[in-house]
Amino acid sequence: MNTGAEPAERPTSALESYREVYGTAPDGSWAAPGRVNIIGEHTDYNNGYVLPIALPHVATCAVGVTDADVVRVASLQKPGEVVSVELARLADNDVAGWARYLLGVVHEYRQRGHPIGGLDLLLDGAVPVGAGLSSSAAIECSIAVAARDLFGLKVSDDDLISIAVAAENDYVGAPTGRLDQSASMLCTAGCALFLDVGTGERAQVPFDLAAAGLALLVIDTNTPHRLVAGEYAQRRKQCEQAAAALGVASLREIADVAALEPLDGVLLQRARHVVSENARVLEVVDLLRSDQDPRTIGPNLTASHASLRDDFAVSTIQLDTAVETALEAGAFGARMVGGGFGGSAIALVDTDRTHATVDAVLRRFAAADFIAPRTFVAIPSAGARRLT
Ligand code: GLA
Repeated sequence: MNTGAEPAERPTSALESYREVYGTAPDGSWAAPGRVNIIGEHTDYNNGYVLPIALPHVATCAVGVTDADVVRVASLQKPGEVVSVELARLADNDVAGWARYLLGVVHEYRQRGHPIGGLDLLLDGAVPVGAGLSSSAAIECSIAVAARDLFGLKVSDDDLISIAVAAENDYVGAPTGRLDQSASMLCTAGCALFLDVGTGERAQVPFDLAAAGLALLVIDTNTPHRLVAGEYAQRRKQCEQAAAALGVASLREIADVAALEPLDGVLLQRARHVVSENARVLEVVDLLRSDQDPRTIGPNLTASHASLRDDFAVSTIQLDTAVETALEAGAFGARMVGGGFGGSAIALVDTDRTHATVDAVLRRFAAADFIAPRTFVAIPSAGARRLT
């Protein structure tokens, strides 16, 4: 098991590869992290509440400004491949795959009139891909902060997040909310970010689990996000339909599940998840702020999982198995994180029960013939930043 303590920043390899690929030194390197969300799932596109922490795992981008009217992108994870697109042709959006996360951000800046010229980029993506840990937002934010610094753009953090989200929604084509990019930009070490997506209000909530003898175990089920794009878009649409049926602009405006009485069937289930999940986020934030033992947030985590499984229908047998096994092994709470349909679960465990919990999950997965999961302990880490 990776304890999460290993340095995840690898500026040296990005810098060295940049020199190898482009034959010169970059102007600098920037890092942006992946995230796990403590609670507040599928609430962001309903203008609700989220509570993520940033991971030590980052996307690192070495970047140089050039005189050419071209963006060139290369990745340590795709050796030998250099994608080159003329600035004037970025809007064509005809490049497939990983390069789109980088090109999309450059395109969105230019769409908004920001004077971004030629760039050479070398990416080192160290956030596990397909694990529900926001590897794509990490890539987008690493280039977004790099471009802001290099071209001296007057862009607020909120505008930068909007640009990264637009790259994901419009250029890559995934209809996600603001959770991942907000976490990657705004999280700070040692804290969880309490964000009200509807108003943009935010606060850093101290989240020192180690001091309480606790660890946040991440269990990546190693299963792909099958159908995620279509299913995710469908959940989002169902939430909009539920809000319209209730006569509100978004489900965030409903504070009490009793007010969902006019709904029935699937729309009732989807809305009940969102409304109850928002309430759970507020309760967890209250508990963390009131200096209570962080173990007290456990039941809310487990209730969130049940709601995502039963009402929102985005869990999988592997995620359910990870959660159930962790709870049986003594976790105080456990839940799937991210969009669902695969990806990771988290479990809040006593530090000295971490290995026993991992062993129990590995054994259960092996007995069920599931692919072996990957595990690590999540340490609340810093948001996007310049490295060199
Ligand atoms: C994915 C999306 C986020 C958010 C989560 C669910 O990670 O990218 O915007 O909707 O799912 O909370």
